[in-house]
Amino acid sequence: MSHAEHGEERVSQERRTALKIITSLSFIVGLGGVASLLKSISPAVLEIPEWPRVRLTNVNEIKPKTWYIFSYPTKDIPCLLVKAGKSISSGAGPDKDIIAYVMICQHARYYGTIYIPPEEARDPEKLTYLKTVPPNILELYPDKNLLYCPAHAALYDLEKDGEVLTGPPFCSLCKVVLEYDETSGDIYAVALAPPAPAVPGVTQCSNNPEELKRIMLGKKLVTETFLEEKI
Ligand code: FES
Repeated sequence: MSHAEHGEERVSQERRTALKIITSLSFIVGLGGVASLLKSISPAVLEIPEWPRVRLTNVNEIKPKTWYIFSYPTKDIPCLLVKAGKSISSGAGPDKDIIAYVMICQHARYYGTIYIPPEEARDPEKLTYLKTVPPNILELYPDKNLLYCPAHAALYDLEKDGEVLTGPPFCSLCKVVLEYDETSGDIYAVALAPPAPAVPGVTQCSNNPEELKRIMLGKKLVTETFLEEKI
């Protein structure tokens, strides 16, 4: 090969190298563009630097065999608090009978779940809403505090960390972690416990507030909340 041909070969080699670099850079820039586009259309994920510690009530303010609703950790997440009137292994308070859960079903995020107290506390005059629950469901666990989802007939055990008793959810109900201040008698909500898989191998059970909801809107954390008595 002549000296001139060597020169031409070197120039075209340099061009090919430059072309490769430009192509790679465009690809990387393109990926970055796609990533930022995806970021801009992804739902806002609520980042929790720290779970809010919110006073819910005082043990002297709540009645046995009564349930209440409140919001935690964001205003659009409805939760229920039950003073069961009997000791529960994971219960809070002096009698270990206070429990709280997110009321959103873990299957398809249905919000219209129904609290079912034990049979002895099912006053038909007060609990008229229980007429909407099929009798065969009411007969299943007459001694337990339960949450029923009418969307696809899921039943959760509120006395056993929200375990799924029947129905399609892959994860247990999301439990509100309660703290009892022995000095004042105040009860605080301090976190959501990670739900447990209801089926072996399930890995997507999450306590992230944005993943618990059907509509992901990135609401602000609550700084105060209050109980509303239901029965
Ligand atoms: S949404 Fe609750 S069982 Fe399907």
